[in-house]
Amino acid sequence: MSTRLDICRPDDWHVHLRDDATLASVVADTARRFARAIVMPNLKPPVTTVAQAEDYRRRILASLPPGTGFQPLMTLYLTEATPAEEIRRAKASGTVFAVKYYPAGATTNSQDGVRDLARVYGVLEAMEQHDLPLLLHGEVTDPGIDIFDRERVFIERHLVPLQARFPGLRLVLEHITTRDAVEFVSAGPANLAATITVHHLLLNRNALFVGGLNPHHYCLPILKRETHRAAVLQAATSGNPHFFLGTDSAPHPRHAKESACGCAGVYTAHAAIELYAEAFEQAGKLDQLEAFASFHGPDFYRLPRNRERLLLEKRPWTVPTEFALGDATCVPMRADKIVAWSLVEG
Ligand code: NCD
Ligand code: ZN
Repeated sequence: MSTRLDICRPDDWHVHLRDDATLASVVADTARRFARAIVMPNLKPPVTTVAQAEDYRRRILASLPPGTGFQPLMTLYLTEATPAEEIRRAKASGTVFAVKYYPAGATTNSQDGVRDLARVYGVLEAMEQHDLPLLLHGEVTDPGIDIFDRERVFIERHLVPLQARFPGLRLVLEHITTRDAVEFVSAGPANLAATITVHHLLLNRNALFVGGLNPHHYCLPILKRETHRAAVLQAATSGNPHFFLGTDSAPHPRHAKESACGCAGVYTAHAAIELYAEAFEQAGKLDQLEAFASFHGPDFYRLPRNRERLLLEKRPWTVPTEFALGDATCVPMRADKIVAWSLVEG
């Protein structure tokens, strides 16, 4: 008899579903595991208005396999031209649940993001007033700052002043990777939370270089040293409600990763909850997986916890080498290697 794990159905509080043929290739992986997901708006062009978010939501729903109850929770991409009025519309929409802040130039499709936070103070004030969470890509873009320090310096330079100016604004520091972020969020108020990816739980920066340069482990924020991974794993498995699941699953075509200028992003949606189970098991904290994956996120977003269940079992399977991504292919995390846990469906 294999070991089974029966949990409240989880949600993914940070995912990139892309659009068009790529969307059609990836969305079922997320929908098989998660009841809901916060969908990132960094399309080309970005999703900046409620009308665009609602169109995108319809495209996602139309791409789902029949019979899934998956709900995409939409976000707006904050630009220096976003009118405060859009925040009121977002709050009233019932389809948009957060606004995403990308420092311009920080990551994939962030060029329309914010250069100077002072230029969006009016919008942030409206978000504070309407109680719409701000999701932060928390890295500075200052080229003088070492890439491994960008998260820590973002906290000092931007997050601390932001909290002081907008104490009522709900903030999610996305995909945290450092002990600094863990300590900052742990010590913070209840309206500050953080998402944690599974690749940052399972990998440290050595994974970029084992057996040669591995572009499939290149993501932003970049993988950090082991002490940071250990701190992030401790936070995820601690039961602290400030921390919850956000895969940051970010598919790119193989040729765009294996390139002279490879894109940032790791695809994990094909095995997301199974890989989180591995990380929690390694920490001896499988009993904490449900709270992290299924309770803390909805509690923070003030949404009901899911009523459905998800069943996992300790049954190893081998991840395919690659899978179709539109008319290209994508190399998923653990390609050709074993994942210890499997979904039990039907
Ligand atoms: C994301 C993407 O590809 O859209 N890439 C990544 O490395 N995480 C963007 C992001 O979330 O930074
Ligand atoms: Zn992301």
